[in-house]
Amino acid sequence: KKATAFAPATVGNVAVGFDILGFATDSVGDKVTVERIDEQTVEIGEISGVVTDLPRKADENTATVGLVQLIGDCGLDFGFRVHIDKGIPLGSGMGGSAASAVAAIVAASELVPQDLPPEAILSYALLGESVASGDVHGDNVTPCLYGGLTLTRSLEPIDVVEIPVPDDICCVLVNPKLRIDTFRARQVIPKELPLETFVHQSANLAGFISGCYREDLELIRRSLRDMLIEPHRAPLIHGFGKVRQAALDHGALGCSISGSGPSVFAWVEHCETGEEVRDAMVSAFSDAGVEANAWVSPV
Ligand code: HSE
Repeated sequence: KKATAFAPATVGNVAVGFDILGFATDSVGDKVTVERIDEQTVEIGEISGVVTDLPRKADENTATVGLVQLIGDCGLDFGFRVHIDKGIPLGSGMGGSAASAVAAIVAASELVPQDLPPEAILSYALLGESVASGDVHGDNVTPCLYGGLTLTRSLEPIDVVEIPVPDDICCVLVNPKLRIDTFRARQVIPKELPLETFVHQSANLAGFISGCYREDLELIRRSLRDMLIEPHRAPLIHGFGKVRQAALDHGALGCSISGSGPSVFAWVEHCETGEEVRDAMVSAFSDAGVEANAWVSPV
């Protein structure tokens, strides 16, 4: 008996909601197949796709940590063999660890007798995500599981708000061939930040969410700006300033780092404009000597 699930790449933070806002993309994703085995253990089988050098120990791999816990919690008298097909590059800021964790637990949930509600699936997936980043945050796992744009208001208890996205919003996601570990990208953020910056960022977060509910694209344009985290992480991404400027010059509503980087995302009105923005961003990376892949998809 086996089951397969696909989970998409996600954009965390969305500029203004560090660790709490994220949206699912229609670009690439991870596919995980979970097979039932007689032993009450989790084995890692085949690893294929764009990443193959992943940990082979079940308690160190983001896809399998949640399954180890699931066997114990549900008192299962069987275990799982897990095959991981990675579509999301490692250390790309596109939510690869969240996607593997979500796909694995969604596939496994098909094989257990218990009914697992979305909150339970989310909790198991979060265990996997925390192995990768050394911290628990839901801005990738939540949209990966629910789809669309989500606000993870709280993880304990789980409180997720699905935020409406105005029609015709398109996401440009550009993945430069650089690699940044989330762990390192979290270390560059100062532990204390100026109150004034916090006030500015709160205004942008509130403006962005209000803009989504009111379908007010100009409010979204004014608000989609990261004052808090981006200035500290931008130096890790070669060419970032020029790439961001290129996106804005070609009409993007906003442009910032996707998750912990190095990928960069932009929100654009209409996917036709998205294609122009994509070309401008890829060419700005190329001018900085960095090759990049890119996707344009409705949010
Ligand atoms: N919110 C996280 C960060 C996303 O920016 O560090 C990366 O997993």
